[in-house]
Amino acid sequence: MKQLTVDLGERSYPIYIGDDLLSQGALLQKHIPGKSALIVSNETVAPLYLSKVSAVLSGIRHESVILPDGEVYKNLEILNRIYDACLKHHLDRNTTIIALGGGVVGDMAGFAAASYQRGVNLIQIPTTLLSQVDSSVGGKTGVNHALGKNMIGAFYQPRAVIADTRTLNTLPERELCAGLAEIIKYGLIRDRPLFDWLNGNLDALLRRDPQALAYAIEVSCQIKADVVAADEHESGQRALLNLGHTFGHAIENAMGYGQWLHGEAVGAGMAMAARMSQQLGWLSQADGEAVIAQIARAKLPIHAPAEMNIDQFLELMAVDKKVLDGVLRLVLLKDIGNAVVTNDYSESQLRAAIQSSYA
Ligand SMILES: NC(=O)c1ccc[n+]([C@@H]2O[C@H](COP(=O)([O-])OP(=O)(O)OC[C@H]3O[C@@H](n4cnc5c(N)ncnc54)[C@H](O)[C@@H]3O)[C@@H](O)[C@H]2O)c1
Ligand SMILES: [Zn+2]
Repeated sequence: MKQLTVDLGERSYPIYIGDDLLSQGALLQKHIPGKSALIVSNETVAPLYLSKVSAVLSGIRHESVILPDGEVYKNLEILNRIYDACLKHHLDRNTTIIALGGGVVGDMAGFAAASYQRGVNLIQIPTTLLSQVDSSVGGKTGVNHALGKNMIGAFYQPRAVIADTRTLNTLPERELCAGLAEIIKYGLIRDRPLFDWLNGNLDALLRRDPQALAYAIEVSCQIKADVVAADEHESGQRALLNLGHTFGHAIENAMGYGQWLHGEAVGAGMAMAARMSQQLGWLSQADGEAVIAQIARAKLPIHAPAEMNIDQFLELMAVDKKVLDGVLRLVLLKDIGNAVVTNDYSESQLRAAIQSSYA
């Protein structure tokens, strides 16, 4: 088992990564301070893993609430079911909410933990690759509003994150690849050696080799933990984690959430950012091509969807929440392993980059 720490002073917490961690009851129990817990999961994950988590909670009064599966249910109405369960079971301020599932469950359970009785303990047990390398770490929680994704939420850190690589064996391949997009992102923004390692090990990851997965998750979580420790509330360098996301959010939004997975849109978005960085003369031709080739090898899209035109991109990118004071800041690459947040480009350069991104 590997263990990392997210260093946030007295709110610091461990991330455990390894094979079959769900069977290690002591790991979970150690981070439950009170006598009760509520496991939040969904219809897909609960039949696979709820009994396992439940079995190691002997001695702790625990209840569960099973949410419907899907991004469309990440809203206030369904969130209320978690509060209903808390109140129905008389859970007090000392209770622990355990998120068992992907990023949707993690974001919802996290926000419930942030707000129920002004904050109760939270443990994240992420079961998708994306949630293991990204959403379970860093404390962003929340739900969607009909008028905007992730618009209602809070920063709220868990007490521990337990990433069991064995749970990834049941993950559909498309979801696995979507998680790879975020791992590729970490290499591109901060870690050239990770980029090179991925070139040699993507096939092992696609085969779900447990050692390769544990390594990739560890390196990714370390980068996310470092960035979060330096900038918990995204006032500065945490914005680098949005590489590919401004293009990607526009794609998700235009195509309808759920048509393109988030990681797929980020894959295409990173390819677009790489092309733009190339065209601005920041990234060499060869490096730009290597970036796009790596995204493609992870079975992710590298082109803008034909259904979207350039004006639609510009319009949707402008409503992305990263627009501050009316200026659209983009994360672009100065080099592989070196990203910057910048508005040092013209609209015609942005248009040209989008134009060159159609298949
Ligand atoms: N909080 C953050 O910092 C942050 C960061 C990135 C993304 N997010 C959010 O995360 C969400 C996406 O997360 P996701 O990609 O994990 O999607 P998800 O939670 O929808 O999970 C994807 C699918 O896999 C299923 N699943 C989960 N674990 C499984 C397993 N082990 N075996 C089989 N099936 C399994 C789920 O039920 C779902 O159908 C989005 O809502 C996004 O906004 C949050
Ligand atoms: Zn993302």
